[in-house]
Amino acid sequence: MDNPDEGMEQPDFPGPILFYNEEVIDHFTNPRNVGELTEAETDGYGLVGDPSCGDQMKLWIQVRQNRIEKIAFKSFGCPGAIATSSMLTELAQGKPVEEAKSITDDDVVEALGGIPERKKHCSLLGVMALQAAIRDWESRGSAGGGSQQ
Ligand code: FES
Repeated sequence: MDNPDEGMEQPDFPGPILFYNEEVIDHFTNPRNVGELTEAETDGYGLVGDPSCGDQMKLWIQVRQNRIEKIAFKSFGCPGAIATSSMLTELAQGKPVEEAKSITDDDVVEALGGIPERKKHCSLLGVMALQAAIRDWESRGSAGGGSQQ
């Protein structure tokens, strides 16, 4: 069978994976806490989107004793969004809600050892989704005591 690429020149730019450092690639190819919590497990849920690129993030939290006991996310986003959200869940898990609330996109980027400047906005999606999930938890009236199950 003929090779349709035969004779074609290869582009001389590096593949897109070289755009990111090892830590980011690891979190992109093996994201932590991917999935969703069941309704019974969920104390807070956030859904946010980035209108500039159309990417979207869903994030669930379970809170026990005012700490983030479980966290899960589903990303409909780019490699930057997936890697940063994965790192965000690692930073948030086990933290008191008050501390998790103040995690910033810069904290996430720093924990990943940096991300290309033009992809920095991607780290906002996970942070915004976490803040939305925390607001949802607060609005359910559980803040202060947390679920005791
Ligand atoms: S390009 Fe949209 S979140 Fe990365």
